[in-house]
Amino acid sequence: SQNPVTVTITGAGGQIGYALLFRIASGQMLGADVPVRLRLLEIPQGVKAAEGAALELQDAAFPLLHGVDVTDDATAAFDGVNIAMLVGARPRGPGMERADLLAANGGIFGPQGAAINAGAADDVRVVVVGNPANTNALIASAHAPDVPAARFTALTRLDHNRALGQLSAALDAPVGGIRNVTIWGNHSATQYPDVSHATLDGRAVPTLLAERFGGADGAAHWLSEQFIPRVAKRGAEIIEVRGSSSVASAASAAIDHVRDWVGAGSQPGDAGWTSVALPSDGSYGVPEGLISSFPVESVDGQLRIVQGLSIDEFSRARIDASVAELVSERDAVRALGLL
Ligand code: NAI
Repeated sequence: SQNPVTVTITGAGGQIGYALLFRIASGQMLGADVPVRLRLLEIPQGVKAAEGAALELQDAAFPLLHGVDVTDDATAAFDGVNIAMLVGARPRGPGMERADLLAANGGIFGPQGAAINAGAADDVRVVVVGNPANTNALIASAHAPDVPAARFTALTRLDHNRALGQLSAALDAPVGGIRNVTIWGNHSATQYPDVSHATLDGRAVPTLLAERFGGADGAAHWLSEQFIPRVAKRGAEIIEVRGSSSVASAASAAIDHVRDWVGAGSQPGDAGWTSVALPSDGSYGVPEGLISSFPVESVDGQLRIVQGLSIDEFSRARIDASVAELVSERDAVRALGLL
């Protein structure tokens, strides 16, 4: 049997952490035959909660779990890490300006990037969940010059999965038959969920939407007035209905993100692509280096942006708007000296 994979989770004493740990330890992320060691990083106020979760992990007696460490020291937490899931972040407080939020998160993700640079395993893969996720990933990557930038990603899989859920409901079909939905841009309200290349059981989704909504105009109206804003603002809807933010669905999406990246999923060859925010190589006019969401496939454990998709005028304008927001976030953190 193989050596355990070291998975570090920051903010592990928080809500998403609690929803993540048990699924990872049970083998749902890396595979049913892959042992794991968990490292739980918290700030001092969060250590007790993480220690409590560690006790429960012991009580769950997962055969694949080869150890749990709890620490408030980033250097120890990232030593030898293979998979880093950066969940803990500074939420926006009342009256907090964007610059304050970015600076507070720069104070978290800069040092964590440096600790990853200093101690991570050669194959380290990083996914940033804590918001503003894309820009936090950019900051972490900038502080890890020895780690290939392509190893730093941010989570837009929750948005992707939300888009699948909405299409499934509209077309009255299970999500399993839907392929090639894309989230473009920032994990924020400007994101663009794009169904123009999507298929359901091999049939073009735009055609099916036109049938469902009485023609191309009806489909276009549903997309711009219902689907796009609902997916982009789903986080607020969950808070309103549930009385608390998305937790289990966020953790589930983070599991999907890592599982597909390492190739632990038993995906058939025709599984299509998914959405990942990763450093742009200039594809689709997104400035190089910006961490933006793209249609992505994982090939032999490496993420590849799907090339050659046609981008119509409607899509172009929305991608550009979300990318402009990412550029302004990048410029703001640069002005703060965080890059
Ligand atoms: P939470 O507040 O329950 O947990 C966050 C935990 O992070 C706390 O225990 C806190 O002590 C810890 N923490 C704060 N700073 C830290 C640091 N420097 N090092 C280590 N730990 C630290 O929040 P929850 O619900 O677990 O959400 C976590 C983050 O995920 C938030 O930023 C949230 O906005 C984001 N999120 C992102 C989603 C996405 O799709 N990308 C979806 C849902 C949430």
